[in-house]
Amino acid sequence: MATDNKARIAVFVSGGGTNLQALMDAEDKGILKSGEIVLVVASNPNAFALERAKKKNIATAVAWKRELGSQEAFEAAIEKELAAHKIDLIVLAGFMNILSASFTSKWPERIINVHPALIPSFCGKGMYGLAPHEAALAKGVKVTGATVHFVNEIPDGGKIIAQKAVYVEEGDTPEVLQRRVMEQAEWIILPQAVEEVCSKL
Ligand code: GAR
Repeated sequence: MATDNKARIAVFVSGGGTNLQALMDAEDKGILKSGEIVLVVASNPNAFALERAKKKNIATAVAWKRELGSQEAFEAAIEKELAAHKIDLIVLAGFMNILSASFTSKWPERIINVHPALIPSFCGKGMYGLAPHEAALAKGVKVTGATVHFVNEIPDGGKIIAQKAVYVEEGDTPEVLQRRVMEQAEWIILPQAVEEVCSKL
């Protein structure tokens, strides 16, 4: 826990970082008040999310599995950063790597993920990025949404914290649906859920 009693948060990212942005904005607006983002970890050096973090003067680190060579080395590099920054809570915000059971077991109910579908639909291995939206459109569902949940050893299998439904509309492409799910669900429920969890730490 931080000296001012705020939980110290690390946000893990891989790409554009709009969910990271929503978290940083929530901190500015006082929606996220029981936690503070003190570290952003990217799974590759080209993640635009890193620029968003730097703009806010938040410490950044890159753990690139391709360069580090193995899952063990990748997770060891991450753990070193988490210890150096005395992290209390990890938020996966568009993080495209699966963490091993040996990693997740060290952080019980201390890792949160946002998933772009209503779990248990369109989730699990391979269901990330645009894939859940492609699958939702292929199935013809009329409602999809986003889920925030704790992370355990089962991909997208941990306890659900929050969900929000979003309508599918006629003529949606995966990209259009992805954007609507972000705007109407992810960017709202992720900061709220992070605050809820931080307030109880
Ligand atoms: C978001 O839609 C997020 O829910 C999804 O990737 C996108 C990242 O966008 N995450 C997953 O699919 C993980 N299973 P962002 O980088 O702009 O936040």
